[in-house]
Amino acid sequence: MKIKAINGFKDILPDAALRWQHIEQTARDIFERFGMREIRMPILEKTELFSRSIGEATDIVEKEMYSFSDKGITMRPEATASLLRAFIEHGLHVQQPVQRLYTIGPMFRHERPQKGRLRQFHQMDVEIIGATEPQVDAELMAMGQMLLNSLGLKVSLEVNSLGCPDCRPGFRTQLIEYLEERKDDLCEDCRRRLSTNPLRTLDCKSRGCKALVKDAPSILKSLCNACNEHFAEVEHTLGLLGVTYSKNRFMVRGLDYYTRTTFEFITGDLGAQAAVGAGGRYDGLIEQLGGPKLPGIGFAMGMERIALLMEQQVENGIHKPSADIFVAALGAKASEYGCVLVQNLRSLKLKAAMDYSGRSLKAQMKQAGRINSRFTLIIGDNELAEEKAVLRNMQTQEQVDFPLNGTGVEQAQRLADYTESSQG
Ligand code: HAM
Repeated sequence: MKIKAINGFKDILPDAALRWQHIEQTARDIFERFGMREIRMPILEKTELFSRSIGEATDIVEKEMYSFSDKGITMRPEATASLLRAFIEHGLHVQQPVQRLYTIGPMFRHERPQKGRLRQFHQMDVEIIGATEPQVDAELMAMGQMLLNSLGLKVSLEVNSLGCPDCRPGFRTQLIEYLEERKDDLCEDCRRRLSTNPLRTLDCKSRGCKALVKDAPSILKSLCNACNEHFAEVEHTLGLLGVTYSKNRFMVRGLDYYTRTTFEFITGDLGAQAAVGAGGRYDGLIEQLGGPKLPGIGFAMGMERIALLMEQQVENGIHKPSADIFVAALGAKASEYGCVLVQNLRSLKLKAAMDYSGRSLKAQMKQAGRINSRFTLIIGDNELAEEKAVLRNMQTQEQVDFPLNGTGVEQAQRLADYTESSQG
């Protein structure tokens, strides 16, 4: 019996990995332009870290965490809580009052797998800690959009404000009143959540709840003055930066730590999994986790969803890299010689390859074509004795005699210079 990967856990095969490298490299480049520095955290954390930050009554904590209950530890379902734990533990704010951090890696949630939804998935997560200004909210969204645009993706941005501990409780009461009156029309989940997490009803996917919340009170009308001003300034700055967005008062997010601005990058091209990336402000969370009283805001992009969208939206986005030189050796001496030459070429930063199986020249030339090599150096035992070989430009099919005199390093350097100066 063959052993297969676990449902919801996926291999990223070499062709796909090229796309992943491109996504990651583009992200690092853009994040660094915005002053972000990388941080890496462990995958396992104390379970309490997630229940205290994401919230006991959320789907993630209630039913999706991979926990080792006997050890009280959990495989991180997201990066924000872990990153803040590390931030607090190492007192990073002491070095620099505003920290701009990013991290890239796997997260784990026991959800029902489907297109764009996995149990092990990868996030590119960014957080700005210590800044409360609305310009920062807009700057982060602009950065997310720049990243998606740089990858050639068309994705829309939706923005909302969830208020703060001063104004949200009033809204919550209003919403509960509205929902209680229509309780019988709610789906089972929302009826249950009415007392624990009533705001989730606003983004429930069930058709009945969707119709019902259309006329529910709007959180944007319940914001206190400070939250209202903050949101107005976020909108103003998004306008200045030329970021296109729409307001969505039904967006509440599946994690409890948000205050004020929340946002999602949305696509219609991935079926039910519309969010390519999402985030928001969490001004009380750091203190709640035992850290200093500092505000924060961030977002995470889902790498699987970005990769899928690129397959759909970006044609010929990524080209396979090619080798610089393939060494085709014919005969035992030539093979030994080639082995050392390839090593020297690689030391000179060239992508060099050879086949040690002693196959026919035809078979080796086929192999050179398969790996898309720019040049092939053909060496036979007889040619080697005369200190020469044949160098073939694989694109133009031109062949030249190539001298093999001098030391091995000199020969490799001559080849490197030649391939660099020639088209191929
Ligand atoms: P989230 O909305 O739970 O937020 O996840 C962010 C993104 O991760 C989603 O938009 C989606 O692209 C991707 N994602 C989530 N779950 C899955 C899954 N099962 N399979 C594939 N992709 C998935 C957070 O995690 C917050 N920590 C974001 C944040 C950072 N807020 C502030 N800072």
